[in-house]
Amino acid sequence: MYPMYELTVIIPIFNEEINIARIIEAVNSTLSLNKIRGEILIVDDESRDKTIKIVEELMLKYNNLRIIVRHTDHGLSQSVVEGFRQANSNTFLVIDADFSHPPALIPRFYEEIKKGTDIVIGSRYTLGGGIKQWPLKRRILSLGATGLGRILFPEVTDPVSGFFALKKKVISGAQLHPRGYKILMEVLGKGKWNSFIEIPFTFSDRQNGESKLTFCIITDYIKQILNIAKYSLVFRNNHVWNEWEKIGKFCFVGLSGVLVNVGSLYLFTEYIGLYYIISSLVAIEISILSNFLLNDYWTFKLKDKVDKYTQNRFKRFFSFQCISIVGLIINIGILYFLTNFFGIYYLVSNLIGIVIVFFWNYLMNRQVTWKL
Ligand code: GDD
Repeated sequence: MYPMYELTVIIPIFNEEINIARIIEAVNSTLSLNKIRGEILIVDDESRDKTIKIVEELMLKYNNLRIIVRHTDHGLSQSVVEGFRQANSNTFLVIDADFSHPPALIPRFYEEIKKGTDIVIGSRYTLGGGIKQWPLKRRILSLGATGLGRILFPEVTDPVSGFFALKKKVISGAQLHPRGYKILMEVLGKGKWNSFIEIPFTFSDRQNGESKLTFCIITDYIKQILNIAKYSLVFRNNHVWNEWEKIGKFCFVGLSGVLVNVGSLYLFTEYIGLYYIISSLVAIEISILSNFLLNDYWTFKLKDKVDKYTQNRFKRFFSFQCISIVGLIINIGILYFLTNFFGIYYLVSNLIGIVIVFFWNYLMNRQVTWKL
C-alpha cells in the first residue's frame, strides 16, 4: 500500500526518453524545495523507446515515483483519467513531460487548491500568459480549439490547457468519457465544481521529440464537444447547462430587439415624420438599450441578492453599446463580402452574418460586459 500524499503530479507520457528523467528531477526538486508531500505518477502507453526503463531505474532513487503502463485504449486523456483513478492523494496536477509547462509553477497551483479553489488552470491566453515558438499553423489550430471550447465555458480563457490541478472530489463519480487531448474540457463539463482560477504561464514548445497531436485528435475534439453538450442537456445540473440557459435567454432578448427595432422604425417614420434613415438610427439605439436592460436584469442577473455590478451599470451599457456597434459593422462586412466575392444570395449572406455576430455579441458580452 502506498502512503497518502498531499498532491499527485500526473505525467502522461509516450516515447519521452529524452525528457523523462529531467522532468522527474525537476518536479521532484520543486516538490521538496516547497515541502510538498507529493507523489509523481507516470502514465505510459507502452512507449517503444527507453522511457519505461528510465522511469523504473529512477524509482529505485525516488520512493514517491510510480509508473503505470497501460496496454489498451491508448490516448493522452485516457491516461490522465487512469492517473486520477490510481492517485494516492486528494489533489491532482497534470503536467506534460516535455517542459511545455513550467514545473516551477506547481507550488502556486497547489497553494490555490489549498485555499479552496476546485480547479486551477494554467492559461496561455489570460493576461500574462503566452506561447513561445509555435508555428503559425499550430497557433491557428489552438485558437480555433480554444474558441470552440469557450462556447461551452466562456469564463475560462484556456479550456483546452493540458496544465491544471483539481480536487479529487471534482471528478469523483463523474461520467468521464476521455478521448483525444482535451481532458480539461471533460473535467469542466462533467465534474462537480464551484470555483476555478487561472494562472498565466508561457507555453514553450518542446525542444526534444515531437508533438503527437494528429488530425484524429481534432475530430476527437469535435466529437468530445458534442458529447459534453449532449451530456449537459441530459443531466442539466452543470456549468454547460447554465451557459445554455444564458445563451437561450440572450437569443430571446436578441429576437425581442428585432421587434423593438422594427416597431420604433415604423413609429418614428410614420407618426413622428422623421426621415427613415434617421428613424433607423434612433431605432437601432432604442433596441440596443432595450436589449441591454433585458440582459442586465434577466439573462445575466446574479442569483444572490447582492448585485456587485449595480454601480457599474453605466459602464456595462457603454461596453454593450461598443460591442453591438462592432457587431453591426461585422454583420455588414460579412453581408458585403459573401455577396460580392462569393456570389452568395444576399439574404443567405445576411443570415450567416447574423449567426456569426450572435456568437460575437454573446462571447464578448459574456467576457467583458457581464464577466461574472
Ligand atoms: N500516455 C500517453 N498516451 N501520453 C501521451 C500520449 C498518449 O497517447 N500522447 C501524448 N502523450 C504525452 C506526451 O508524452 C507529453 O508528455 C504530453 O502527453 C503532451 O503531448 P504532446 O504531443 O507534446 O502535446 P502537445 O504539445 O501537442 O499538446 C499540449 O498542448 C495542448 C494545448 O495546445 C498538451 O498539453 C495538450 O494536453 C494540450 O491540450
